[in-house]
Amino acid sequence: MTYLGIDLGTSGLRVLLVDADGGPICATERQYDVSHPHPGWSEQDPADWIATLEDAISEMRETCPAFAGLRGIGVAGHMHGATLLDARGIVLRPCILWNDQRSYAEAAELDQTNGVRELSGNIVFPGFTAPKLAWVRKNEPEIFKKTAKVLLPAAYLNYYLTGDYVADMSDSAGTSWLDVGQRAWSDHLLDVSHMRRDQMPRLVEGAEAAGELRRELAGKWGISNSVTVAGGAGDNAAAACGIGALDEGQGFVSLGTSGVLLAARDGYRPAPETAVHTFCHAMPGRWYQMGVMLSATDSLNWLSRIVGQSPAELTAALGDTLQPPGALRFLPYLSGERTPHNDADIRGGFTGLSAATTREDLTRAVLEGVAFGLRDSFEALAATDARMDKIIAIGGGSASRYWLQLIATVLDIPLQLPGSGEFGAALGAARLGIIASSGTAPENVMTSPDIQEELHPVREHAAAFKEAYQSFRAAYPVIKAIQ
Ligand code: XUL
Repeated sequence: MTYLGIDLGTSGLRVLLVDADGGPICATERQYDVSHPHPGWSEQDPADWIATLEDAISEMRETCPAFAGLRGIGVAGHMHGATLLDARGIVLRPCILWNDQRSYAEAAELDQTNGVRELSGNIVFPGFTAPKLAWVRKNEPEIFKKTAKVLLPAAYLNYYLTGDYVADMSDSAGTSWLDVGQRAWSDHLLDVSHMRRDQMPRLVEGAEAAGELRRELAGKWGISNSVTVAGGAGDNAAAACGIGALDEGQGFVSLGTSGVLLAARDGYRPAPETAVHTFCHAMPGRWYQMGVMLSATDSLNWLSRIVGQSPAELTAALGDTLQPPGALRFLPYLSGERTPHNDADIRGGFTGLSAATTREDLTRAVLEGVAFGLRDSFEALAATDARMDKIIAIGGGSASRYWLQLIATVLDIPLQLPGSGEFGAALGAARLGIIASSGTAPENVMTSPDIQEELHPVREHAAAFKEAYQSFRAAYPVIKAIQ
């Protein structure tokens, strides 16, 4: 018996087939684009997700005979995206993504509405789903009128897989329509954004069954038995499941398109004033808190495009030994910022450029700027009493040892590096598929990866980075004032 985890990411889709213990059997991934029709906008065509999934499944069927024994599927998706469907289930417009900033005015208005922070447990950030619908209502009224269902990206894949409109709690917590403490749609939150309960998918926990794989699809994929599709999860909750971070003190730092510092919580302790996110975890009775910066590897990718060298080449040029902070500061606000500033308008910048500045200096400043942004999230999380005893480093950017050493030093905590193998959102999603399909006890599959190494803060540079962080903090109001 085998189980499939699908990670619908911002830059691509990964499918991972595992055995009943969650052991990886085979995996494949494909990239796709994000379109930016206007500055600050960020969209994807859901048809690309389906085409990419089908393509990846075709490859897996050919190369991996174990696929025929599929019994369960879990989907993890990039969060907050608004996929709008009409009454026949047809997509009405491109999905508006989590890092799209167009609805900042609508977000601010909702955020100030009575009861919204109290019920949703969070600031209404422009990237969240409710303000996107408020923007559509104002700017595309015909589409708003036709909207019969609003699905998050993972829920849209659930719909494709099962034919049913079902979403899990962890992803739904990022809509600003969910009462995050009660784990239920809130009539008040729906009312204030002119939405209705019938436009929402049915809610299940991440490891509960959302439905069965459609017969037609099972036939096309060459599977004769029934396959259970789990509720799934938002990508951050799924990644936490992938490293077994369910309890207080466990968490991760993720260097993906966005940068995330996440701490698992055993209770609901919202603290919206800190700009920390408080969301349902993918397992019942659990929550998590995280600080989110919008441009982590996105900042390095930007530099890479500008200077015409790959991110790996840029970081390799720095070597493996952490240098003290340079004189340059980079403000990583290429798409605005969530934690701690909640500022959709702010844009990035360099300070301290000189005629002698080199490409290596720019790379170092970018890595340092992202590390300082994560320190901001660390401070915000500390204000919620979230413990971070055991932080595992994940995400594409964690391939750079230099960056990890820098982050350990700036956060002043050791970072654990998993050995080779699977431990990301695709594994977390597959684990949800295993539990939903086989009823296996969560503690048997939601385990921590083997830790290959622990990277410790570099003591000799600690004071210099502390000082550099203060100058990073001081630069935000200055940049704000001149932009
Ligand atoms: C979390 C967030 C991002 C996306 C993309 O609130 O917006 O981390 O989930 O990965």
